Amino acid sequence: MIVRHNLGSAFGIPIGEGREFDVEGIRIAVFRSRNGSIYATQALCPHKEGSLADGLLGGSTLVCPFHAWRFELKTGQAIQGDCDIKTFPVELDDNGNVILTLA
Ligand code: FES
Repeated sequence: MIVRHNLGSAFGIPIGEGREFDVEGIRIAVFRSRNGSIYATQALCPHKEGSLADGLLGGSTLVCPFHAWRFELKTGQAIQGDCDIKTFPVELDDNGNVILTLA
């Protein structure tokens, strides 16, 4: 079953930063990139469970704040590190709310 969740206004996420949400008991990090895109990934780094919402954003790249593993935000593919991260479909609605889809 596909369920869409309204996580509230995108303005709650400062540009260039991430915030963590609990969605149906799943910890998810949502990022608002400087290029205007919204991304959503698993909240914990696969290396040693660093908080990815506290990571550094560079365009569509995320750097874990703990040991600098790097991930492509759109696909979750590891750029530096040996494990990918899970990503989730996310978009903005007409009112600027962050809509996350869980399957
Ligand atoms: S916990 Fe993320 S790189 Fe180590």
